[in-house]
Amino acid sequence: MIASELAPYSKTGGLADVASALPKALGRAGHRVTVVTPRYRGIAAGTWRADVQATVAGQTFAAGLWEEPLGPGARALFVDCPPLYDRDGLYNTHQVDFDDNPLRFAFLSIAALEWLASAADEPVDVVHGHDWQAGLTGAYLSQHFARHPTVGRLPFVFTIHNLAYQGPADKSWLPRLGLGWDLFTVHGLEFWDHLSFLKAGVNFSDAFTTVSPTYAEEIQRPEYGFGFDGVIRARAAALTGILNGIDVDAWDPARDPYLPEPFSAAAPAGKVAAKRAALEAFGLPAGSDALARPLIGLVSRLVDQKGFDLVAQVAERLVDRGPAFLVLGTGDGRYEHLWRMLAARRPETVGVHIGFDERLAHLVEGGADMFLMPSRYEPCGLNQMYSQRYGTVPVVRATGGLVDSVTPWNATTKRGTGFLFSDYSGQAMLDAVDEAVRTFASPADWRRLQRNGMKVDFSWDRSARAYVKVYKGVIAARRPRRQRASAPRT
Ligand code: ADP
Ligand code: GLC
Repeated sequence: MIASELAPYSKTGGLADVASALPKALGRAGHRVTVVTPRYRGIAAGTWRADVQATVAGQTFAAGLWEEPLGPGARALFVDCPPLYDRDGLYNTHQVDFDDNPLRFAFLSIAALEWLASAADEPVDVVHGHDWQAGLTGAYLSQHFARHPTVGRLPFVFTIHNLAYQGPADKSWLPRLGLGWDLFTVHGLEFWDHLSFLKAGVNFSDAFTTVSPTYAEEIQRPEYGFGFDGVIRARAAALTGILNGIDVDAWDPARDPYLPEPFSAAAPAGKVAAKRAALEAFGLPAGSDALARPLIGLVSRLVDQKGFDLVAQVAERLVDRGPAFLVLGTGDGRYEHLWRMLAARRPETVGVHIGFDERLAHLVEGGADMFLMPSRYEPCGLNQMYSQRYGTVPVVRATGGLVDSVTPWNATTKRGTGFLFSDYSGQAMLDAVDEAVRTFASPADWRRLQRNGMKVDFSWDRSARAYVKVYKGVIAARRPRRQRASAPRT
């Protein structure tokens, strides 16, 4: 696998969680997976394994590959190339992208393939790249390694975690990245007269996937396509939607080191201690009144995708509805400012922490009663699944992976795990929050709702099986025809 983020070493979002949990699940199922990822500033893990070297954009870069086990059958291979990765930030500093990002991530693919071609210690069946950062891998496989006896035959699977990030680069990068102008076509990697890493990923893959079945449908429509819906439709036959799992070891209320007391569906008492700790950590009152009051958590990148423009539209009405709020996030300055302002105005109701903080994320998931995720679009979303596991009821917009992982509460049948709203409007969101608050007032219903969510199996094993099916499909399709015809039938 090739991924630009890997939890717990580097993370800006869910990609990091997937890049670590999927290999571990595949490893548990008996496969062997190596994740090639940058050794960013501050990553000290790993022991030296090999060196690779490649000339890109007129410069020769040498990199050490540092190996660190992730679990049985799974390991990370950190690409140590200080001129490219030893920086303050993964993709940018102060929200300004590094202008050599095309080079930094082209090199990631090249380093992985060079390693396979020269130093790899065991044979490989398939290469799997994640998001635009790994998007050029398929193009390099077919261009630079076509004649290599083993690497040249490798199938490439590409996963889109978010269609909005398309890795655009000025077309002048093309020759600098060692790619021919013959690839600069609508069926190749040209997108509106630019080079698009994402488009390369789609068009030079044997199969591509996205992180939920609903999102796989949505991105074929203009409303969710970010201009890419035509590209996706053209290759729809090669697309599969596979819902992410979650790392059920890292996110387990029964043994979460960040929580004051363990709890579970069978022994839920410890959730109150988590609520108290979460309120205290955010500087909100934590007495018996506060514990009885519903508490809504938000842990998110503070960006439009996550629905913060909706929140902004009705912010005052939202925070005056009764519940208290804990908000953990970073992102757009205007949303950071909005939440800071709301917290200053209602210090008893709104607690805000602007920053990225793993411990607080666990504390909010553990301590909140409800988790709000009004996303405009959501390829998968992980927090709504973490929430359910922690007995924290999700209130979400019905889009993408949120549809595939939250089932609406039905007060008659007592089934369902959360509250969904469809219209992308502030009022629809407020209505869903109100419905959740009303249900919270019926303790028996609420306990049932929590238990329903806590019982859902969100483990990676199911999703890993779906990926194996995709891998097997592309491997079989690449096998020479004669060999396929003579293969024994089973
Ligand atoms: P996305 O990748 O689009 O941001 P996901 O829901 O897939 O959304 O994943 C977000 C991940 O990042 C989750 O693991 C979430 O807990 C984490 N996260 C987001 N913001 C923060 C933050 N400010 N502090 C800690 N963790 C965060
Ligand atoms: C992206 C998406 C998010 C998804 C994550 C992991 O960051 O925005 O919905 O859960 O990738 O696949």
